[in-house]
Amino acid sequence: MRKKVTVVGSGNVGATAAHWISSKELADVVLIDIIEGVPQGKGLDLLEAMPIEKRDSYVIGTQDYADTANSDIVVITAGIPRKPGMSRDDLLKTNYGIMNDVVGKAVKHSPNCILIIVSNPLDAMAQTAYKMSGFPRERVIGMAGILDSARFRAFIAMELKVSVENVTAFVLGGHGDTMVPLPRYSTVAGIPITELMDAATLDRLVQRTRDGGAEIVKYLKTGSAYYAPSAAVAEMVEAILKDKKKILPCAAYLNGEYGIHGLYVGVPVKLGAKGIEQIIEIKLTPEEKSALDKSAAAVKELVGVINV
Ligand code: LAC
Repeated sequence: MRKKVTVVGSGNVGATAAHWISSKELADVVLIDIIEGVPQGKGLDLLEAMPIEKRDSYVIGTQDYADTANSDIVVITAGIPRKPGMSRDDLLKTNYGIMNDVVGKAVKHSPNCILIIVSNPLDAMAQTAYKMSGFPRERVIGMAGILDSARFRAFIAMELKVSVENVTAFVLGGHGDTMVPLPRYSTVAGIPITELMDAATLDRLVQRTRDGGAEIVKYLKTGSAYYAPSAAVAEMVEAILKDKKKILPCAAYLNGEYGIHGLYVGVPVKLGAKGIEQIIEIKLTPEEKSALDKSAAAVKELVGVINV
């Protein structure tokens, strides 16, 4: 039987996630949104691309959660982006309301699904979904570490003029200004990048990674990034549906790992059929640990505002 993935939100991130998932033939896809017509139109358009792509993925768009029933994975991209004049807290409270509503409806129809949370502010929204769903932490995973690491990898590959395939990178912490790129654990064909570039170059790439989302917003003006965020979603979907046991940085609910309690923070996890099958604790220097603590404190402040 084919796998089924629901994508909530038919905006750029949601629709492009549906595109990657169907074009990789990972699953049938249900695109759902409160906006009438848009998910149906984009879903049908994607369905009609499948003969060209030679993929037997069935794609539909809908407003009705009954169509999402028994999904293996539900990806949640719903939420509003920040507009001029809005505070971070405004965005937080609005998306908190949307997240609660959407998660409630989604898990009612797919009680055994794995939730992948993409809406911002990422870590606080993952925490909201975790609390609302009542699911075990293994089945509520936040995207973002893969995106942030992919940006770091792209910048490293450009700088050293090597294949992106040779570059691995780790970015930990919350998906925000305080994220923690880890150069010591970032390599080119196994060689730590700390041996391949000077400190000033490294600092520049780290900062560009931290500002990666903002750099795109500055260009697009009316929206934020979506190709790389949705490609990150597709990698998570693939790791789960194919039970790949892939080690990827994702936002996970920590119960004491890294000395952090009761909070979603980006850490390396093993993704397989059960969702998060292991949280991997890597050794951090005191400097790295203090950067991670600072990042966790920023997430804690946000979740404090919405009390989740
Ligand atoms: C980014 C936003 C979407 O990092 O979180 O691009």
